[in-house]
Amino acid sequence: MLFKNANIENGAVRASECSTQETADCKAEEGLLDMRVKNGKFAEIGANLTPEDEEEIIDLRGKLVLPPFIESHVHLDTCLTAGEPKWNMSGTLFEGIETWALRKENLTKKDVKDRVNRAVRLQAANGIQFVRTHVDITDPKLTAMEAILELRDELKDFVEIQIVAFPQEGILSYPNGKQLMVDAVNMGADAVGAIPHFEFTREYSVESLNFAMNLAAEKGKLVDVHCDEIDDEASRGLETVAARALELELFDRVTASHTTAMHSYNNAYVMRLMRLLKMSRINFVANPLVNTHLQGRADTYPKRRGVTRVRELTAEGINVSFGHDDIFDPWYPLGCGSMRDVVFMGLHVCQMMGYEDIMNAYRFVTVNAARTLHISDRYGIEMGKPASFVVMDAQNYYDALNYNSPVLASYRNGKKIAESTPGAKTALF
Ligand code: FE2
Repeated sequence: MLFKNANIENGAVRASECSTQETADCKAEEGLLDMRVKNGKFAEIGANLTPEDEEEIIDLRGKLVLPPFIESHVHLDTCLTAGEPKWNMSGTLFEGIETWALRKENLTKKDVKDRVNRAVRLQAANGIQFVRTHVDITDPKLTAMEAILELRDELKDFVEIQIVAFPQEGILSYPNGKQLMVDAVNMGADAVGAIPHFEFTREYSVESLNFAMNLAAEKGKLVDVHCDEIDDEASRGLETVAARALELELFDRVTASHTTAMHSYNNAYVMRLMRLLKMSRINFVANPLVNTHLQGRADTYPKRRGVTRVRELTAEGINVSFGHDDIFDPWYPLGCGSMRDVVFMGLHVCQMMGYEDIMNAYRFVTVNAARTLHISDRYGIEMGKPASFVVMDAQNYYDALNYNSPVLASYRNGKKIAESTPGAKTALF
């Protein structure tokens, strides 16, 4: 199969030259490439590839081609439950946790599988092919873990699901928390989580991180910590995560998610901390939609945005990806499984609206997220790698973001697994 005239990762076509028009004038621009797919892999990528005998040809007419979108932080087990059994009226993280604790009492495997199946299809239609989901293991029956482990296998031809054993109500602050973590890892979780800012005490917080990271090192698992998701500038789980990543030589196998307290840290402390963060090589995930909604709730005015320091971390060469975090659940009452909305909000709230910032923003939900998930060796539009990519109804990412362009097609290992037809919006004058 030969895909002609792909604008791979923005190529050399500029937004100002192509805008949203048809591509006739742009096809001659350098940067449009052809991709040959054989046996589910990229066999050849180059300009003006000659079709082979009876080869199927698809002309992409200069459309934007990106590696598949990656959801690097979401809670699939809680998705599509907003309002059950009640709405989160305060809009706080902690009322979200309380509300989920009520909903969790009625959890069944079928309930989880039905909802996750729906959510994964929403995501697939938006070009997502890789998902890291945190699954709450503070449940003596580990119902959600069992359900999502089954789905990881059942859906593997369409989406790669990575599962984090996530102790929503704490490791040391929940009955039998340590044993539940061990059980979830032994059942097959891919990564170990923690929630230091929710533990009863600072001592518990540090001990929970030591426990989780030692468990990951011992079992050969990745680490993804819900780290300092609070506006308390004294919440300093991050330094412990980074120090342990360095000392246990886990490095980029470790991710610090949220780190919203970093928004409120004093600058002198951040200057000192940045050295350790770089040495540790850990990844960060920011969740701009959900943390803009949840943080700053104890403030009157001025009201903090609460999203971590994405611009500064990126400038230091530290890997940052973006996640949706919640899709229509007790913590976030909106969401349709699209990474576009996440990027759109992220650029605003992190004040990253320069031309290059916008044009390259897809990286937060593609290549950067691949580093977070530790899958870069099998991800990306390169010869020899799996032929997985999305085609967007736009000439470049600037336009795709601005016009909320649909994903026209999502190919996984050379097979189309999702498609959409662009809806036309037309002024009638
Ligand atoms: Fe989260």
